[in-house]
Amino acid sequence: MCGIFGYIGEERPLQLWLDGLSRLEYRGYDSCGVATIKNDFIFIKKQQGKILDLRTNLKNLSLEKFNIGIAHTRWATHGKPNNLNAHPHIDCGKKIAIVHNGIIENYLLLKEMLLAERHKFLSQTDTEVITHLIEKFYQGNLLGAILKCVKELKGSFAIAIISTYQPKQLIGIRKGSPLILGLTDKGQFLASDIPAILPLTKKVVYLEDEQIAILEKDKVNIFDFEGRPNRVNIERINIKEEQALKKGFPHFMLKEIFEQPEVLDKTFLLYLKKEKIHFPQLNLKESFLKNLKNIFITACGTAYHAGYLGKYFLEKYCGVNVYIDVASEFRYRNFNLPNRSLLISISQSGETADTLFATRDAKSKKIKVLSICNMLGSSLAKISDNLILTPAGPEIGVASTKAYTAQILVLILFSLYLAKIKNIISEKFYQDAIVELKAIPNLIREILGQSKKIKSIADKFSKFGCFLFLGRGINYPSALEGALKLKEISYIPAEGYPAGEMKHGPIALIDEYRAVVCIAVYDNLYEKMVSNIQEIKARNGKVLAILNYQDIQASKLSDEAIYIPRLKNQDFSPLLIAPVLQLFAYYVAKNLGKEIDQPRNLAKSVTVE
Ligand code: M6R
Repeated sequence: MCGIFGYIGEERPLQLWLDGLSRLEYRGYDSCGVATIKNDFIFIKKQQGKILDLRTNLKNLSLEKFNIGIAHTRWATHGKPNNLNAHPHIDCGKKIAIVHNGIIENYLLLKEMLLAERHKFLSQTDTEVITHLIEKFYQGNLLGAILKCVKELKGSFAIAIISTYQPKQLIGIRKGSPLILGLTDKGQFLASDIPAILPLTKKVVYLEDEQIAILEKDKVNIFDFEGRPNRVNIERINIKEEQALKKGFPHFMLKEIFEQPEVLDKTFLLYLKKEKIHFPQLNLKESFLKNLKNIFITACGTAYHAGYLGKYFLEKYCGVNVYIDVASEFRYRNFNLPNRSLLISISQSGETADTLFATRDAKSKKIKVLSICNMLGSSLAKISDNLILTPAGPEIGVASTKAYTAQILVLILFSLYLAKIKNIISEKFYQDAIVELKAIPNLIREILGQSKKIKSIADKFSKFGCFLFLGRGINYPSALEGALKLKEISYIPAEGYPAGEMKHGPIALIDEYRAVVCIAVYDNLYEKMVSNIQEIKARNGKVLAILNYQDIQASKLSDEAIYIPRLKNQDFSPLLIAPVLQLFAYYVAKNLGKEIDQPRNLAKSVTVE
């Protein structure tokens, strides 16, 4: 949450900061601001609203050149989104400006102390204490003051600082929240995430936790929180700039939905070798996997729904006990993680605070961790002893789409891999599964070809004020995900439910004003789903069914239906259902004129609790 961007180097127009910030806008978008130094003064401009508003306000200035600056796009935690609470924040002497991503948990205590020392606060944010603390500790050496300051702070933070005390230095600090450096011969950048610097450089440094980077026009030094110099580990990122552009699509979400076949193909390239599943980065010994009895899965949001599907695959194919919980609950439960357990943590960003805490907790209990993550340099990737990367590329739309299908595929592949090691499935089953999975990207292409039809159905259904998404067995998690997609971008109340639970309560909701999306593909629970559809129709609910092409029963009962190919192994059907439900949510939101890529109150990475 919140995006930060900074630059020091040859003079560049203010536009540079605004462009960098725009590429981070998916992280938060309720207010924004920029600060730079000119003629020994700190110049700050802040704006409630989007970066576009800030650009408009800075129109005359945007071509003016500066050689240092920081910028911020905010997702409010402490204090309303307004001009005063927008970052950057400045100290009383107007010498130090900072931007921050994270939460300072002890800010109230610190603020009280600083107020007693006559520091003047202008905002209600937790962030402002940082500027005043540095001001308090400054005695001619900025790094010295920062080292004292970070010792006082509890919580998570990525911070960028400029100061007229040392106008030739841009300072970045990381503890708990992501911060990367981008290096060039003409200047250095810092940012919360890769897309911000993609068009500017491919040479990056992933700052580690508890590191401070001092960037100058032509050099970078890194220190730990004790002030000791650290090695600067430069890496090259292998992501093309166009991957973070809309490429002619009206929204990132739509582009990312359409990228799914390609992402799945890439996943096969990485993890299939001569028709055998292999995970080259896995450090789990075969003997450990053979004897593995318990798997815990934790994640948040869409990644949790992928994990839920993983539970079905792992239980069915590998004969292990699988427990799953959202990370925000898992981390506070008294879970007894026995020996011979594995924790699977799933996250697109690898920066979700709860998932990270849950993972660290399991690690402290000596449980082996396998992460499924989309971001190589992320905190999750770094703390996990085992990583399976999902090669979905940058996902910019706040609603997760392509990362979800990549997570599902990786979980299927991992289940088959484990089942084979445990000798539970036959070679034929394994080979047939691989052949069928490899055909899925083309089947998704076929489904995406139906987008016009899905749009016209979505247009009709967008008048409903409340949705239920029903599925059973393997497609119960698909129903959960369909409901989440719809509610987060259209703001229509939507609930995902196991269809078998309808009679235990939710059926009371059904009347002619309720829309019910029923996933009723041919599998062992098809007949039961058909009965559930009957029950909804008997109470005048409006049914949109997701069915197989050959369907004869449910299609007759439903008001509308979207058809998908039938697989030999219907366990893999969630991979085909996901794009249908994503497109449906997308077109409902579009019809209602909602801000699809940046839904209200949400942010792409939830880096605070
Ligand atoms: O980056 P992560 O996968 O850890 O994020 C988890 C959730 O915050 C995320 O999936 C969220 O629910 C999305 N907005 C769903 O579309």
